[in-house]
This record gives sequence, C-alpha cells and structure tokens, in this order.
Amino acid sequence: MLEEVQALRQEAHHERARKEHLESSQNAAKLASLADISAPRHKDLLCFLTCGSVDDGKSTLIGRLLYDTQLLMADQLADLEDVSRRHGTNGKSIDFALLVDGLEAEREQKITIDVAYRFFSTDKRKFIVADTPGHEQYTRNMATGASNADLAVVLIDARKGVLNQTRRHSFIVSLLGIRHVVLAVNKMDLIGYSQAIFDRIVEEYRAFSAELGFESLIPIPISARLGENVAARGEAMHWYRGPALIEHLETVDVTRGPAIRPFRMPVQWVNRPNMDFRGFSGTISSGTVKPGDPIVVAGSGRTSTVKAVVTADGELPCAVAGEAVTLTLADEIDVSRGDVLAAADNRPEVADQFTAHLIWMNDEPLIPSRVYLIKIAARTVGASVTDIKHRIDVDSFSKLAAKTLALNEIGLVNMATQQPVAFEPYGLSRTGGAFILIDRVTNQTVGAGVIEHGLRRAANIHWQALEVSKKQRASMKGQKPAVLWFTGLSGAGKSTIANVVERRLAALGHHTYMLDGDNLRHGLNKDLGFTDADRVENVRRTGEAAKLMVDAGLIVIACLISPFRAERTAVRESLEPGEFVEVHVSTPLAIAESRDPKGLYKRARQGLIQNFTGIHSPYEEPESPDIKITAEMTAEEAAERVVGFLSNAGYLSDEAGSKQ
Ligand code: ADX
Repeated sequence: MLEEVQALRQEAHHERARKEHLESSQNAAKLASLADISAPRHKDLLCFLTCGSVDDGKSTLIGRLLYDTQLLMADQLADLEDVSRRHGTNGKSIDFALLVDGLEAEREQKITIDVAYRFFSTDKRKFIVADTPGHEQYTRNMATGASNADLAVVLIDARKGVLNQTRRHSFIVSLLGIRHVVLAVNKMDLIGYSQAIFDRIVEEYRAFSAELGFESLIPIPISARLGENVAARGEAMHWYRGPALIEHLETVDVTRGPAIRPFRMPVQWVNRPNMDFRGFSGTISSGTVKPGDPIVVAGSGRTSTVKAVVTADGELPCAVAGEAVTLTLADEIDVSRGDVLAAADNRPEVADQFTAHLIWMNDEPLIPSRVYLIKIAARTVGASVTDIKHRIDVDSFSKLAAKTLALNEIGLVNMATQQPVAFEPYGLSRTGGAFILIDRVTNQTVGAGVIEHGLRRAANIHWQALEVSKKQRASMKGQKPAVLWFTGLSGAGKSTIANVVERRLAALGHHTYMLDGDNLRHGLNKDLGFTDADRVENVRRTGEAAKLMVDAGLIVIACLISPFRAERTAVRESLEPGEFVEVHVSTPLAIAESRDPKGLYKRARQGLIQNFTGIHSPYEEPESPDIKITAEMTAEEAAERVVGFLSNAGYLSDEAGSKQ
C-alpha cells in the first residue's frame, strides 16, 4: 500500500510527464479508483495530516471535513473492505490504517500503527488525510502520518494555546520534510471568537516555528464543532479575512520545485519465472526510465543498460516515478533484493556510516552499540548508533548532551551499518533518506529517522589486504579457530570451568587464549560499568577482541555474563559459521547466590551494588546454546563435555583448520 500511495502522490506531481509518455498507470489507477469521488480523472491530490494534543478536536475536525464534503461513498467502502480482508489485521472489519501505511515494515510485522487514513474530495481536489492520535506516547503514529504528507494541519485548542505537544509535533513535521502548515486554532466558539486571543496564539506559534523552515504558515480560526471557517467562512468572525480551511487546502501549492530527480528504483524482488527471463521488480521512487538507459547497481557499482520496461500489460516505452515495473537488463549482472538501480550518470551515495535525526519510539531506551536492523527503502541490514551528538529539546530546540534516547526523544546521531547501503539525504529524497530501526529480538519498530548526510571518514578508510591468511595461521596450529563463549550468571562457574577447559586444551597442544570478563574490566573495558548500555559495549568490545584472536588462529575462551541475547547473537553473526560456540552455564540464581564466591550477591541484596545481574538486572538465557552445562556437573565433567564437543566437531584437528 505504501507503494500505491506514493504512486498516487507522484501521479499528482508528475502529471505532465505522465501524459506525455503514458496513458495511465495500472497501480495508480487502482488506488485512484479507491479515492475517486466521481471527480475528473486527473484532479490533483493533497496528502495532509492533522496533529495536536488529545483534546484539540482532531476527530471532530475530520468528521466535519468528511461530513461537509459528503464523504465515504458506498463503492469506496466496498473496495476498502476487500483490501482489508486480504491484508488486514482485524478480521472482516475495515482497516483504515491499510489505506496508506507509511511504514511498510510495520504491516509485514503485523504491528498496528494507529493512523487512520481517509479520502475525501471537492470539485477542485482529492484529499488523503492522516488522522494520528495525539497522546504523548503516540509520536510514532504522528511520524508515520507525516512521512507521507505534504501539509500539516496543526490544531490548537484556543483555550490552551501552544503546548509542548504542539511544539513536538511541529518539530517532527519539519524534520520529516513537510513545508506547509495550517495553524488551525480550534474551539473559537468557546472563547467568544476573540481576535485578541487568536492573534496572541498565532504570534507565539510564529515566533517558535521561525526556525523550522516552513514555506507557508496559514493561521485559521475555526470551530470544528460548529463548522465555522471549515468548509466556508462563517458569520461569527467578521474580523477574519483569510480563507476557510477547505478553500486553503484546495488551492495551496505544495509542489517542490522542478520535480526532476534522477532515476531510482529499489529492487523489491528478482523475478525469475524461467531460465529465459530475469527481471527486477520494484516501484520507481524517482525519475523516469526507458529502454536503452544506462543504469548502475548502486552498491556494487556494476553497470548495464535497460533492455525492457515490463508490466502486466506488456512493455512500456517509458515509466515514471510511482509506477511498479519490472526491468530487464542487457547484461547478466548481479542484482538482488534490496539493491537500488539508479541512473548511471547520477548515482546515490553508498556508505556504511551516516549522520541522521532519529526519533526513538520504544519504551526501552536506545542502547548505543546494540545492533538493530535498519530498513532503508527495500534494504535491511544490521546497524548501530555509534555516537549521540545531541538530543533536541523540543521546547526550546536547544541541543542537550545525551547518552541515550528515551521514548519520543529525538537526537542527532551517527550510525554505522554492517554493510554499505545506498541512500540519499532525506532533503533530496524521502524514499532514499528515511529509515526505521527494528529490534532484532522483539521484531518491533523501535525508531524512525531521516538521513542528513553520509560520513566521509567511512569512504576514506579501506581494508588492508593481509598476506598470511587465517587458514594458514590455523593450520600451523593444527586446529580450527573458534570462540567458546561462556555465558551465565555471576557465580555460575563460567571461569572455573573455562580454566579447566583451557588447561586440557593446552595439554593437548592447542593454542588458546582466555578473555575473562573480570580481567578485561581491569584494562580494555576499564571505563565500563554495569548499566545495560555499558554491558552491551562490554560484550561488543570483547566480541571484537575475540574475533581478532580467531583470525589469529586461536581457540578463544570468553567468559562473560553477557546477559543479552541480542549482543551474543551479534558476536555470533560477526564471525563465520561454526566459529561461535555458545556454552550456557545454566546454574540457577538460587545456587549461584548460595555459592556467592565473591560475596557480591550478599552485597547486592544489602543494596550496596546496583544493577546486579539476576537481582535488579535481567539475564536472558540462550534459546539454543551449542553446549549446556547444568549445576549438577562438576567442573571436570563440564570441561570434559566441552572438549568432547570440540573434538567431535573437528575443531581439534589440522584437517579442520586447513578446510577453511
Ligand atoms: S557483563 O554483564 O558485562 O557481561 P562481566 O562478565 O563483564 O559482565 O562482569 C561480571 C563480573 O563483574 C561479575 O562476575 C562480578 O564479579 C562483577 N560485578 C560487579 N558488579 C556487578 C553487577 N552489578 N552485576 C554483575 N556483575 C557484577
């Protein structure tokens, strides 16, 4: 649906280009029919959102707009029902959120973002309005609505004036590239239609929004309940000389200058029905494409030319932004899902580090260093926040120092992706520059952001080729290098068992090294404490050190509580398959506490140690460890099991090492 709505938006923007090249677009026509209110076929379209605090009267206003424009016709509802049945989350009833879903990934994950989209129409224009709940915790809904809109109606309760929420929403509106704002001062009837109060609110709003870069800001005093200045100018406010809300929405020009942008198409899937046909399908996010055009695969830099532009209706002489097409290429080059096809002479940036504004949307705060999934256009890769440059105070727009971002907070951050990605600054492309972050364990969307610019330093640091390989180093040592990653509570017995394992491996002539959490905290990790964020960084650094040692050909024994699944998974994924052996020392809390070898549990119970694992701080057990050690086993038995595992799986033979 995201593609379809963008198609519809683009249709409005590229009307002229389309008329020259094409009769109509299948996709856009389908949605246009949903939105069509027996209006002329090419009437233009305005997507806008309403935002404000809970009781500012948004629902009333939308109800009023729909009512005044005679809305929701029977055939539209029938179509909607059909779409809802096929994709919806709520059975047979209509799922309005499906009409326009700003974040496609949300729908794939069946997480409902509570944004209702409605269509209405007048003689002059068609409208899609995103209705987003105003509660403080629903910033993410608001951001979702804003990512597809060209204009925002910021509602204010005339009795309350400009609130924190008004500022927050206006800031997000500006961040997400909306350049046109209507300041709808509602409930004028409840303040006796006072011009003085209206003027004061407008003045205050203008003062604070001056730096938000809006191109147009039109204040309108309204009463949504009574319909004053909504569809038409009312009788009650003779002092007001501007347009009624609908008049303004019908005529405001939101086009973004010359809409000529270079060709871009994120590949949604590779279409290969048989050996003779290989096409790349997706929705053109900007520009035009025709047979013979030189194109490049943004990530790899491979080039080719377009052979044909194919749709279900046959081949097209040309296709424009917003259309879903399949391209075939003149050469057999490597293209996969998530790649971006682009004009060869005007390529997007490709980098693995960039600076972005990030809106945090999760109850759990952001953990820098944690690897989340980032989704940019059709590409999904691992990514982490490497630096929070500042947090933005939405009241004053001042920049505050921050170590994390909590729910609804906005910050300017540096990010690093695990592989290079093609992107564009959001200011140039809303599709190429917007992203969401997904938690890999819970699969929830935890943040959304817009890319400001790539980081040059990433482009200037290259990998130095090494002349002696891991394979050579391993085979000299007669072993297959790996990390034995011991995880478990404090006092579970990790270090004790690991010591026996190392002693035995050394006796067998193997080359090992032990990375013990307590020891590392005297040096490499000296600056870290026991907050969640510090533990994440502790595990990340230890994982990096272990990875280097695996590269050196060693069998590495790491002993850390490493309480979070996400970080253990990240270390596993940073290594090659088979190089990470997870050993869960599963001693239960009660037993670890009764052993209390360092007296730490006792001190933690007395409140002398904060954030103690198992007491105030969580431990997430491995779901499927390679080896599980239980409390009944002696250290010797446990070590026997670990060494037996290594031996059976071929880690202790030269052959295994040389096979790599
Ligand atoms: S981890 O959680 O970041 O992986 P790590 O294994 O490095 O922890 O360090 C844990 C050791 O630090 C424990 O064995 C214990 O000796 C000590 N320690 C001190 N304070 C704490 C605490 N609050 N929680 C857990 N361990 C602590």
